[in-house]
Amino acid sequence: MKKSIAIDGPAGAGKSTIAKLVAKELGFIYVDTGAMYRAMALYLIRKGTDREDEKAIEEACRDADISIRYADGIQHVYLMGEIVDDHLRTEEVGNMASVSSANAAVRQKLVDLQQKLAESEDVVMDGRDIGTVVLPDSPCKIFLTASREVRAKRRYDELTQKGEKCDIKKIEADINERDVRDMTRKNSPLRVADDAILIDSSDMTIDQVKDEIIRYAKERF
Ligand code: DC
Repeated sequence: MKKSIAIDGPAGAGKSTIAKLVAKELGFIYVDTGAMYRAMALYLIRKGTDREDEKAIEEACRDADISIRYADGIQHVYLMGEIVDDHLRTEEVGNMASVSSANAAVRQKLVDLQQKLAESEDVVMDGRDIGTVVLPDSPCKIFLTASREVRAKRRYDELTQKGEKCDIKKIEADINERDVRDMTRKNSPLRVADDAILIDSSDMTIDQVKDEIIRYAKERF
């Protein structure tokens, strides 16, 4: 039986930064499920699919070939055979992903892929529904959050570091909109699993959060 750590939380809570560090320290594989939803969104954008057209999204998603491979412990996302890592973290793709990830067919396809990965490897997996839907039996579930202002500032720093021009007010508004969509959608809404511990990282350093999760994981395994 493989080990798993499930980390859920809203956009910009620091999940991927922390999950990567935890995975490295424990020798687990880090699975960024948001990147899979973003790859699907990129596919839909490239195809010109209307984001309001549920049926079109459902049909298009059947043909999307998305897979994950690892090189030196780093996750690479393949879309139709192309490595798309560098195209996934834009606001355009994030906003499309927030809409298309509400689609049941999209979720079914990607949840299958995530569950298969967790069957074959020890994983730290982050997303919105990992503790509730993807790995409901995981003994180690974390809900990682932070205030909206802190999350917007982190996203702003991440984007400006990459040279993207952005406006912090617009990012805050987008985060707000994404939170509402992720938490109120019909399929697998973002919520705290009953057996998850809650960590608010607003006033914590990255190392403090990492250490708390590792301490908890060691207690649980
Ligand atoms: O974590 P992120 O910003 O990369 O995620 C992009 C979008 O994908 C986000 O709006 C919610 C969605 N998502 C999801 O619905 N379920 C997951 N397990 C991961 C991400």
